[in-house]
Amino acid sequence: MNDKLIIFDTTLRDGEQSPGASMNKDEKIMIARALEKLRVDIIEAGFPIASPGDFEAVKAVAEVISDSVVCGLARTSDADIDAAGEALKPARQARIHTFIATSPIHMQHKLRMSPDDVLTTAVKAVKRAGKYTDNIEFSPEDAGRSDIDFLCQVIEAVINAGAKTINVPDTVGYSMPHQFGETIRQLIERVPNSDKAIFSVHCHNDLGLAVSNSLSAVLNGARQVECTINGLGERAGNAALEELVMAVRTRRDIFACDTEIDTTEIMNCSRLVSNITGFPVQPNKAIVGANAFAHESGIHQDGVIKSRETYEIMKAEDVGLNTNRLVLGKHSGRNAFKTRLKELGFEFNNDEDMNATFKNFKQLADKKHEIFDEDLQALVTDSLQDTSLERVKFVSLAVKTETGEVPTADIILTIDGNERRNQSTGDGPVDAVFKAIESILNSGCSLLLYSVNSITGGTDSQGEVSVRMSKNGRIVNGRGADTDIIAASAKAYINALNRAMGNDDREHPQL
Ligand code: KIV
Ligand code: ZN
Repeated sequence: MNDKLIIFDTTLRDGEQSPGASMNKDEKIMIARALEKLRVDIIEAGFPIASPGDFEAVKAVAEVISDSVVCGLARTSDADIDAAGEALKPARQARIHTFIATSPIHMQHKLRMSPDDVLTTAVKAVKRAGKYTDNIEFSPEDAGRSDIDFLCQVIEAVINAGAKTINVPDTVGYSMPHQFGETIRQLIERVPNSDKAIFSVHCHNDLGLAVSNSLSAVLNGARQVECTINGLGERAGNAALEELVMAVRTRRDIFACDTEIDTTEIMNCSRLVSNITGFPVQPNKAIVGANAFAHESGIHQDGVIKSRETYEIMKAEDVGLNTNRLVLGKHSGRNAFKTRLKELGFEFNNDEDMNATFKNFKQLADKKHEIFDEDLQALVTDSLQDTSLERVKFVSLAVKTETGEVPTADIILTIDGNERRNQSTGDGPVDAVFKAIESILNSGCSLLLYSVNSITGGTDSQGEVSVRMSKNGRIVNGRGADTDIIAASAKAYINALNRAMGNDDREHPQL
């Protein structure tokens, strides 16, 4: 029988470290529920010491999740470990993940600690975590650039102190697959008590090798992989969960292990994470990109019609792609709406949220007669956003464009409840709208990215707009969806502005 490959998802922690991807408590709960439905083994819910908001979010995830283990990250200080232990108290199954850097460059310049001190500190942290749980994971940060003899010493010591999982991170995405696999093989072979722990890997994608490095480690004995939905994560991101899972599943002939992931939930999770974070999925992204299962060339189409296996190595249905199945329409009732949302993994905390979302659904159904799963997901993530703290709200928009004429936009907003209106011209209708908003708000933000996606096919599809902007070095994302893409653009811009103006008390202890 094949070994189990444990899937440790860190979308809510490392994924959240992508610039502008921060999520609030309700958004984290929504994603955690979807991850549990996907059947991930461990959900790393956050970094409890980073801010009161992070602490509360980890605690809230720990309260609602029962099948997956809920994990909290902690550096080696007592305060970090205690914060993680406290936040995880409500969890049915809790794990504390503690880490300290072991590479010469990190020890010397970041930690300013000797190797001996790093070793002692690591052991002390693992022992302290043992006060809260016996499910302890230890990571020697920047292992990819650490000395292997020192790694062996640290790993042996933390296993003796009670660590049950040893996670080997390629923190800066520097390793090559053959080299990283060899490191894992040697660690398992040389650490005398390696049989008392599961070896895990955590690879970053700076050179585009996160998935390759993780798979090479699996071939050399790693039995846990750390990953994120859509490969979200610090800088170029982490190994993409969907790619790892489908690689191992599709090439069972090569990998002596398999996961327990319900792959038919992959698309749902991918869309949800993209909707919530405002990070669109590139069309040619493996497994979850819009073109991943689209055959364009005549030769390919002909081959697939004659025999599917000619050009298809996986089935679209296996990853939950149901080609825009029509689910609901204008006459659908509350019960059908609620049932379909439950199937998609959304549950309402109260009737008020349900009623508000149902009202938005009816409005959308009036504009767009066929409502697909993708529309519902966008609608729910929009409706469940906590807008109570948003100072700026979109009211309405009129745009005039005519060939050969300069476009004008006339926008009405409320700021702290007071209505404001202004007009502007621009190089195009979207530019005119953004300038009209800025003429009212003068935000001082710079726009870094603007992108439009259609949520489903067809000209009546909702447009989903993502914008990324920065203010004083802080990066935020915003998104908006509407059947009118100019209105969607205005909503996305206002959503990002609200985030840029909000307080963010979060520290990034790793930086
Ligand atoms: O990339 C990294 O090294 C990390 C650790 C905290 C595991 O995210
Ligand atoms: Zn990381």
